[in-house]
Amino acid sequence: MANLKVTLSGWELDNPVIASSGTYGYGLLFTDIYDVNILGSFSLKGTTYEPRFGNPQPRSAECEYGVLSSIGLQNPGIDAVMSEELPKLRRHYRKRVFANVCGSSVEEYACVASRFDESEQVGIIEVNLSCPNVKEGGMNFGSDPAMAARVTGEVKKAVSKPVYVKLSSGVTDIVSIAVACEQAGADGLCMVNTMPGIRIDLRTRKPVLGTKTGGYSSPAMLPISERMVFQAYEAVSVPIIGMCGVSTARDVLEMMMAGASAVQIGSANLLNPRICKEIIDALPAEMEEYGINSLSEIIGSAH
Ligand SMILES: Cc1cc2nc3c(=O)[nH]c(=O)nc-3n(C[C@H](O)[C@H](O)[C@H](O)COP(=O)(O)O)c2cc1C
Repeated sequence: MANLKVTLSGWELDNPVIASSGTYGYGLLFTDIYDVNILGSFSLKGTTYEPRFGNPQPRSAECEYGVLSSIGLQNPGIDAVMSEELPKLRRHYRKRVFANVCGSSVEEYACVASRFDESEQVGIIEVNLSCPNVKEGGMNFGSDPAMAARVTGEVKKAVSKPVYVKLSSGVTDIVSIAVACEQAGADGLCMVNTMPGIRIDLRTRKPVLGTKTGGYSSPAMLPISERMVFQAYEAVSVPIIGMCGVSTARDVLEMMMAGASAVQIGSANLLNPRICKEIIDALPAEMEEYGINSLSEIIGSAH
């Protein structure tokens, strides 16, 4: 029988399919569609210290092959997630989740992470570096190795659970950032977040999105994210979770051969809410087709 199990920092997942932050809410949206316990896991909506109301509308622009969005980390804040969302989730979901942590300052990241660290429902703290550093000119934390390392180091000091750092895609040298995060103590990397993009409305001659630019995700991104995972795999020894453009069981196998220990599925959930189940169901047949008995044996096999 096909063995779909994978291990992340000592946590054995039934399969490598993890629903991505921001595309799966706090898990309850999908409970009427299928039993969400079939997932390897999922990542909670990005959470900040205070509630956030998100970016001005419009927040998404349709593209021929994907979606350009700019939600702006709309979330109820860490207190409400701890006291309301996690207890509600416990009634439907018996596995642990990824807690996606966001912030405008290094201190905010550390503070939100330390609160999530208290919850037994959280298996991994996922640090989203694609947030603007408000104190230092608004540059994205994920765009610079030193800034990425600082956030990683401060979050590590604040928690006892494994810390996986989610890297931004719109950078020239992803490997230097991956290495900086590993050296600062990251237990794993999530690679990569959406690619910065823009669309112009021909009638108004202005950008479609309220924030002008947004994050582009699409199956067309797969060769790019896979290349980044491939490069990082050669430079770091911590596990990598591959994402951005993964939408089929074959994509999962490719991403794992490039070096990912698991994958995340994001915007594909918005287009087809059953996609994670369909991928998990399809994996055994795809594995058989390519002579794979156990998924853990193919991690990094392309190297
Ligand atoms: C609507 C939307 C909201 C998102 N919100 C978050 C978020 O809160 N935190 C985060 O780390 N990533 C967020 N992301 C990024 C996704 O988690 C994922 O990394 C990205 O979309 C790339 O994967 P995909 O190509 O499978 O969509 C969001 C993406 C979308 C489309």
